[in-house]
Amino acid sequence: MKKYEEMQSVLHDILSNSAVRKMKKYMQHGRVSTYEHCKNVAKLSYDINRIFSLKANLRVLLTGAMLHDFYLYDWHDYDGGSHQLHGFRHAKTALDNAIKHFGIDKKTGSVIYSHMWPLNLRRIPKSKEAWIVCIADKCVSLHETLFRRHRS
Ligand SMILES: [Fe+2]
Ligand SMILES: [Fe+2]
Repeated sequence: MKKYEEMQSVLHDILSNSAVRKMKKYMQHGRVSTYEHCKNVAKLSYDINRIFSLKANLRVLLTGAMLHDFYLYDWHDYDGGSHQLHGFRHAKTALDNAIKHFGIDKKTGSVIYSHMWPLNLRRIPKSKEAWIVCIADKCVSLHETLFRRHRS
């Protein structure tokens, strides 16, 4: 089985959804789209779970990872350039969109809702799936910011 085949099959419906594909037109870091960023977070979450034998629920883990930034706007335009409100608010917007489009369950929702910890200090990740996505997002964001700013 190819490395991410299992991930692709769990995420099949989400990856082909037209609202999810809208994330391709919004830029996340440098020249990386939000869609690509979410996919990178899903891949790293999948790898962390496998490498450390964490036995996470794959559907919760990968759905949460793929939809963690499903806020559907360009954050560079969001709050007049300060970018602070976006940081605090977008996890809730992504959660609302994920419920609206996919009717996700509570456990998957909490993965999305807590991914910005510790910026949102009181939203501490409450499951191993939420911790994996929270950590994977930080690693992927750092990598994209440092190494993918000016490449196409
Ligand atoms: Fe985020
Ligand atoms: Fe993110």
